[in-house]
Amino acid sequence: MDQLIFPPFTNRNNRLFLENHDLCELCSIHGTPLLVTSEKRLRGNYRRIHDAFSSLYSHFGIRYAIKSNSNPAVISILRDEGSGMDVSSINELNIARYCGVSVDKILFSPNNASRDELMEALKIGAAINFDDIGQMNVLRGKHPETASFRINLNIEKGEFPGTTTAGPNAKFGMPESYAAEAYEKAREIGVRKFGIHVMIGSNVLSPDHFGHVSREIFNAAGRISQKTGIKFDFIDLGGGFGVPYRPGDKELDIDNVASSVIDNLEKASTQYGLGKPELLIEPGRYISADTTALLGKVTNIKKYTKTFVGTDIGMNILLRTPLYGSYHHMVLANDLSRALSGTKEIVGQICENTDRIAKEREFPEAKIDDIIAVFTSGSYVSSMSSTYNGRARAKEILLSDGRVDVVRERDEFEDFVRNTKIPDRLLNKSKK
Ligand code: LLP
Repeated sequence: MDQLIFPPFTNRNNRLFLENHDLCELCSIHGTPLLVTSEKRLRGNYRRIHDAFSSLYSHFGIRYAIKSNSNPAVISILRDEGSGMDVSSINELNIARYCGVSVDKILFSPNNASRDELMEALKIGAAINFDDIGQMNVLRGKHPETASFRINLNIEKGEFPGTTTAGPNAKFGMPESYAAEAYEKAREIGVRKFGIHVMIGSNVLSPDHFGHVSREIFNAAGRISQKTGIKFDFIDLGGGFGVPYRPGDKELDIDNVASSVIDNLEKASTQYGLGKPELLIEPGRYISADTTALLGKVTNIKKYTKTFVGTDIGMNILLRTPLYGSYHHMVLANDLSRALSGTKEIVGQICENTDRIAKEREFPEAKIDDIIAVFTSGSYVSSMSSTYNGRARAKEILLSDGRVDVVRERDEFEDFVRNTKIPDRLLNKSKK
């Protein structure tokens, strides 16, 4: 019998399984580093958050944040579920279109975009969520049909200083006091449909915070609407829906979140006459994070001042830990029964001392060729990975109803020199 150990992963005879697949067996076939994703979990997460809101408010839509995991297979599954996409660059916009997402379900929310990039979005016909009035002015009077602005409500909430999305020190959005002028200008240059956007935070697990931010943005929308006469077609709460990274973390109560958000929307709507704007949210992490495990191999053990467990899954694959100090739960996938045996540094192959995916972590005694599984690796892992030190990024596998599909190949040598050129004068002519 399988035992659920870190949903959706199970323990079968002390080996780690996902959707009835032995993850160590997949590593012997496909090698490491390997990212393995459950399609069932991905669809389940989408439906859970979609149903929580749409059952209470019919004019509702999801714009999945592609930056969390931009694999075209993942995007195609979510498109199939009916999701729209939140994109932050033209390449992300084009990935969404490549996966068949219709342009009217794409919201382009770039940060400090260039004029060329904004013009390209206009040509494609995407709605633009401007970070501030300056970004709209970059277009020198040209405009999308649908535009919104990101409001910085001065409510700081991030899991780490590096993931704080608002507040006086955040580079994002503009204060509400500048909004009326921005919307009036947008109307004057010809924008016809309007939205308003706020980011809730990052990896927030407390429902109260969603109640707080949503109340503030709905009231801000009401005030702006009364001041300018602008009618909002949509109000977009952005991302921030958290997931458990540690075994003891409590799941976000999404029904509770949805009911307080909708309650606030209805109250503000009555108070300010907002009508029935479309409510949008842009979850990334909530939908993709827990669908995936990162699997790596133990390549060396060093026991001097500390115990270092060397692996092939360092900061080039999992940047979140060195960058923010984030926690990812890890187990020995090939022997779940092995007892914890003191703290260890779990490190990678990169020539940087920050190359640690876990610090002072209680972990079992590891041996060379053991397989380490890192949970909650479906968001901001592959999309933030790099080929630093000439190391290949992870291969990616999708499990769906008994099927095993490779959805990203591992980088090969050709990928490391692709797009580079040695000038003729430097070519080593004697080279065979
Ligand atoms: N919408 C916009 C405009 C965003 O900038 C983001 C994330 C999201 C939606 C999705 O947020 P989520 O639902 O995933 O919380 N690299 C960091 C997270 C940075 C988030 C940046 N923006 C991490 O690994 O924790």
